Amino acid sequence: MVLFDFDTVIERKNTASVKWEQVKQVFGEEDVLPMWVADMDFNPPYEVAEAIKKRVEHEILGYAFVPDSTAEAIQAWLKKRHNWDIHPAWIAYCTGIVPAISTAIQAFTEPGDKVLLMSPVYHPFFHMVEKNGRVVVNAQLKLVENRFEIDWEQVEARLKEGAKLFLGCNPHNPGGRVWTKDELMKMADLCAQYNCLFLSDEIHSDLVYPPHTHVPVASLGDKYRDMTITCIAPTKTFNLAGIKASAVIIPNPELRKKFKDVQAVNGTSALNTFGIVGMEAAYRHGSEWLDALLVYLKENIDTAARFIAERLPEIRVMETEGTYLMWLDCRTYGLEEEALKDRLWKKAKLGVEIGSKFGPGGEGFIRMNIACPRKILMEGLNRLEKAFA
Ligand SMILES: Cc1ncc(COP(=O)(O)O)c(C=O)c1O
Repeated sequence: MVLFDFDTVIERKNTASVKWEQVKQVFGEEDVLPMWVADMDFNPPYEVAEAIKKRVEHEILGYAFVPDSTAEAIQAWLKKRHNWDIHPAWIAYCTGIVPAISTAIQAFTEPGDKVLLMSPVYHPFFHMVEKNGRVVVNAQLKLVENRFEIDWEQVEARLKEGAKLFLGCNPHNPGGRVWTKDELMKMADLCAQYNCLFLSDEIHSDLVYPPHTHVPVASLGDKYRDMTITCIAPTKTFNLAGIKASAVIIPNPELRKKFKDVQAVNGTSALNTFGIVGMEAAYRHGSEWLDALLVYLKENIDTAARFIAERLPEIRVMETEGTYLMWLDCRTYGLEEEALKDRLWKKAKLGVEIGSKFGPGGEGFIRMNIACPRKILMEGLNRLEKAFA
């Protein structure tokens, strides 16, 4: 068995790291411990760096296309990890999931159209809708005994109002819910009933902890397959956010054509060389590394939950079914957004996200990224205690 090292602290300064080197701009302080933006402080699988190094040895970095072998690696990954059979021809490539969402909004809606989301949710969902001149309609998630649940009445009301596209996030960021098969089917059935397409952002789908399992909504049957646009990427799973690569799986040929037509208009269909090489190597060789990572991340989540239960019992920890982002309910402190920032960012020098950034329902919560060596995690937890001392 290969052993993987997630404990070593790797210096990330002087690599133009957003997470580590933009803390002053984001938090207003220099020596903030960054537990915010969703990348990890671990090396990716060895084979990924090796594949990229090998490619660089050639030195000529001319125009590149995505070879069939990359599509085959994606196909094999989805089959093995998520029991989903796809055809390589269904894949459109994109330089990330955020640009893929923007492309989908342009392809499947008109200016002024309504786009449904369920807040609190990954904040660029709001921006992409609004910057494209579409209108956000929100079915805010309900908090039921420490976990988010879908508010079906709200969903149906928004769909009745004419939402054309639903932006789903599975697993959900923030909040860490892994939507069940029943929930996904009910959601997709409602979307189908009201003629709304289902975009499923599944960037966190490989980061799910037993007993939960990820179900790609498009894998639930032909009806669901033909109304969904599924976005996946190796970038969260394998810590490769800088290679800017995603795969958008659109089985329905008409929808796929519309998506690719917008890409053609904007000239955004090509990936960069390292995106292609990194994506293929990760999906081809990353399975064992990922299994070890998931064990480490789960231990971090449990460690943090225990620490908070013992030392900060006022904070309620939402169960993290998936993702490496913990969603902490700090509402009992009764602090306004600025006071929360003051305590966490200024007093404790802890760089966590303030929940209101994720839209209605996020107020009074914080999001903490625990994908780091345990030593950094413990430092972060001590700072959290200091913030509320
Ligand atoms: C739900 C979700 N979608 C998309 C992204 C970013 O995707 P990309 O870097 O491929 O644009 C993130 C990053 O945190 C995310 O959490």
